[in-house]
Amino acid sequence: MNTNNQTCKDYTIRMEQPCDFSTVENLTRESFWNVYHPGCTEHYVLHCFRNNPSFIPELSLVMEKDGKIIGHVMYSKAVITLENGGILPSWTFGPISIHPDYKRQGYGLKLLNFSLEKAKSMGVGFVCIEGNIAFYKNAGFDLASKLKIHYHAEPKDVEVPYFLAKELVPGYLGGAEGTYCPPEGYFVAEKNPESFEAYEAQFSSKQKLVLPGQLG
Ligand SMILES: CC(C)(COP(=O)(O)OP(=O)(O)OC[C@H]1O[C@@H](n2cnc3c(N)ncnc32)[C@H](O)[C@@H]1OP(=O)(O)O)[C@@H](O)C(=O)NCCC(=O)NCCS
Repeated sequence: MNTNNQTCKDYTIRMEQPCDFSTVENLTRESFWNVYHPGCTEHYVLHCFRNNPSFIPELSLVMEKDGKIIGHVMYSKAVITLENGGILPSWTFGPISIHPDYKRQGYGLKLLNFSLEKAKSMGVGFVCIEGNIAFYKNAGFDLASKLKIHYHAEPKDVEVPYFLAKELVPGYLGGAEGTYCPPEGYFVAEKNPESFEAYEAQFSSKQKLVLPGQLG
């Protein structure tokens, strides 16, 4: 498999370029808007991550269809602190976005699977994510607790339904138990609300709505 890019009849997946940045951030905003909360902050998270040392530019991938960018995913480096005191490199990803006009047509899963293959080819054996298992189980993710990997913000003896993991290399963890902490950067909008508001003001106005299915 060529892991640099993927060209099919229907779409192309390639590395994001600087000239794509604003289009991709707008796509992320459109994709997440009102999904988990009224409005969204994921486009700002992505914007700030580009300057974060844990950001992996080779894994910031766009999906193009009919000359338009309809999907994007980014990865970053994280670590798992092992019970024995060691550290295990572990990558995470997100935001992952598919434009609202193209959701639930299989594109998100194709983009995710390609990105996981590429991550594996770059030498990482394990990835974890906070997300909805209804989508990620299709790419082989399961509850991280089943692999004895705990979430930093939850008790160790609790099965955390949103904390998911996948061994890209089977047996990579070797049964080791540990705790995952997401990289600095996912809470940038909450930490810098004024900077976020200034960034958000550049975009077209959209209505924030309270909708069923949003997180509490
Ligand atoms: C989540 C997202 C990336 C999925 O991409 P997609 O192209 O819409 O999903 P796919 O068509 O590839 O879905 C494949 C399967 O995953 C599951 N799935 C996908 N999205 C789902 C959702 N929102 N709820 C429950 N199951 C879902 C379904 O089983 C689906 O198959 P089906 O449509 O035949 O039932 C996309 O919907 C999106 O951008 N959502 C908003 C942003 C977001 O939530 N990102 C992820 C944050 S963790």
